[in-house]
Amino acid sequence: MRKVLIAGNWKMHKTAAEAEALATAIRDSITASSVPAEVVIAPPFTALDRVSRVVKGSPVALAGQTMHAEDKGAFTGEISPAMLLDLGCTHVILGHSERRQLFGETDEGVMKKARVAIDRGLVPILCIGETLDEREASRTFEVVGRQLEAALRRLTPDEAASAVIAYEPVWAIGTGRTATPEQAQEVHAFIRREIARSHGDAVAGAIRILYGGSVKPDNAAALLAQADVDGALVGGACLEADSFLKIVRAGA
Ligand code: 13P
Repeated sequence: MRKVLIAGNWKMHKTAAEAEALATAIRDSITASSVPAEVVIAPPFTALDRVSRVVKGSPVALAGQTMHAEDKGAFTGEISPAMLLDLGCTHVILGHSERRQLFGETDEGVMKKARVAIDRGLVPILCIGETLDEREASRTFEVVGRQLEAALRRLTPDEAASAVIAYEPVWAIGTGRTATPEQAQEVHAFIRREIARSHGDAVAGAIRILYGGSVKPDNAAALLAQADVDGALVGGACLEADSFLKIVRAGA
């Protein structure tokens, strides 16, 4: 049985003080009434230290929003796996479409970073998804299949099973235009079939595939009810404790 995972990607939002307040509200609510879902939050790097102190010892886990593949070096502006670990991160988001579209991340880079994350003991949340043009050109499976293959290529079956895939159709991110539960399920089922082909049935049965793209309190339950949707990667709706917690509870 795959445990539901709800992850909040805070993107470039919240000062350290605001982040501390939001993390405290999330932690307090989740510890007060235990939730069956696994909960991960990914604040900006500048807030990781303070948020880490808030969630330490609680069921809320911490993720980086991206990372460099090297542990140190002359890479101005970057953050390393060692630094994320030092700040208490257990997870790292890799290959988010904003990183791919705005900051030149490639399939090759995601492949390398996924390997490094696993080597360092960080759970990679590997993001894949097609653009609107690609969907309209009926290229969804081709694009998602290519990104998926690259993200998992350097992982053994056991390692792949411990990773997390996030299917985030680019046209649904920040647009308020969510994939319908059926559209999400169709691609999630495809992803699981592809993983069965590349890494075997056991891995396909164990790996969690999250949906991301305008997940809100009012659509989360229907998305999470789909057979192959094992959680959500939430953007806008994770910036308020109330709406994020409603999504967390929708996964019960
Ligand atoms: P929104 O929920 O704001 O559409 O963002 C989704 C996302 O990109 C999460 O990583």
